[in-house]
Amino acid sequence: SNSAQIGILASILFLLICWLIRDSLIVKDLNGKHVFITGCDSGFGNLLAKQLDRRGFHVIAACLTEKGSQELLACTSLSLKTVILNLTDSSSIDNAVEFVRQETDGESLFGLVNNAGTATPMAPTDWLQIDDFHAILDVNLVGLIEITLKLLPLLKRANGRVVNVASVMGRLAFLGGGYCLSKWGVEAFSDILRRDMQHFGVKVSIIEPGCFQTGITSSEAIERDLLRLWNQLTPEVRESYGDQYFVEYVKAQRLSMKRLCDSDISKVTNCMEHALIAKYPRTRYGPGWDAKFFWLPLSYAPTLLSDTMLSMLLPTPAASRKSVSRVPLV
Ligand SMILES: NC(=O)c1ccc[n+]([C@@H]2O[C@H](COP(=O)([O-])OP(=O)(O)OC[C@H]3O[C@@H](n4cnc5c(N)ncnc54)[C@H](OP(=O)(O)O)[C@@H]3O)[C@@H](O)[C@H]2O)c1
Ligand SMILES: *[C@@H]1O[C@H](CO)[C@@H](O)[C@H](O)[C@H]1NC(C)=O
Repeated sequence: SNSAQIGILASILFLLICWLIRDSLIVKDLNGKHVFITGCDSGFGNLLAKQLDRRGFHVIAACLTEKGSQELLACTSLSLKTVILNLTDSSSIDNAVEFVRQETDGESLFGLVNNAGTATPMAPTDWLQIDDFHAILDVNLVGLIEITLKLLPLLKRANGRVVNVASVMGRLAFLGGGYCLSKWGVEAFSDILRRDMQHFGVKVSIIEPGCFQTGITSSEAIERDLLRLWNQLTPEVRESYGDQYFVEYVKAQRLSMKRLCDSDISKVTNCMEHALIAKYPRTRYGPGWDAKFFWLPLSYAPTLLSDTMLSMLLPTPAASRKSVSRVPLV
């Protein structure tokens, strides 16, 4: 009946308003709390470091290079500190952890943002060697786990926050190479960490961005890397794909980066900030319209549907035994 419908609608509206209010509550006394961010040379990490610095946090920004560190120091307040961190190197991780301990007087660390990451090479699986997988997994997954384990004692003392950057591409396992594996691994590690740490008041959030214009999605870097792999292929593998495949693959990547990637990366850093300052941080954040309305729904779709959609986005190898009708991105 009519009144039952109104009742249901009113209840939904009420729950929505309650959720919005709950979502907007902020932790008190954030000023001067320490937050450690990895990968601050460029992209999301760089912007987040500046954003949190302005907000009054004590930011400890880890950069891969001295150049990145100097550039960041030049445009931030004196309370922001940088440290060099190479996640593939355990002694570099130990050094950064020691730096955090000193900066916090061995006391407590409120926030850890695991943002650093690398994405190349990303290519069809039979173009890759095992070292190509190591190049990504060692940074994005194993490095992330190692730094998290070593900072957990400090985070537990602060009832702190861990913010891990995965990717909606990881949920979908779209492109070949270590990237999607690493991001899927980050999802699993974060889900487990959240449940293990809930008893100690440590909250864990996962950021699953769509495509944004940063160093990682720059088409020059991706193309250079694809060309290197293509030139290394055995004649047999190369013939099974055909020169045309390479040309179209590069073109498809270039166009999708240009068309789909958002230039407003503050959408991502605002989610990271919410995960740090909200009284009730969300478990997952999906910044970007492409993530919300395309990649995420597709990741929940039946395999038949997602496989068909994804194969339409990529070219077909010359030796394909299956004729796939294709709608190129062009
Ligand atoms: N952009 C997107 O569309 C997108 C989408 C989903 C997820 N993400 C994720 O967002 C995070 C940030 O990426 P971004 O888009 O901001 O790209 P970015 O500008 O390339 O930032 C990545 C950062 O990680 C650093 N890094 C690379 N290798 C490292 C290592 N071995 N040890 C320590 N740091 C290392 C990079 O240093 P250098 O600059 O010196 O190389 C850089 O500062 C990554 O985890 C990425 O996977 C990005
Ligand atoms: C990071 O460490 C690895 C191995 O420890 C090394 O090969 C690589 O060159 C280092 N990267 C940078 C930018 O120093």
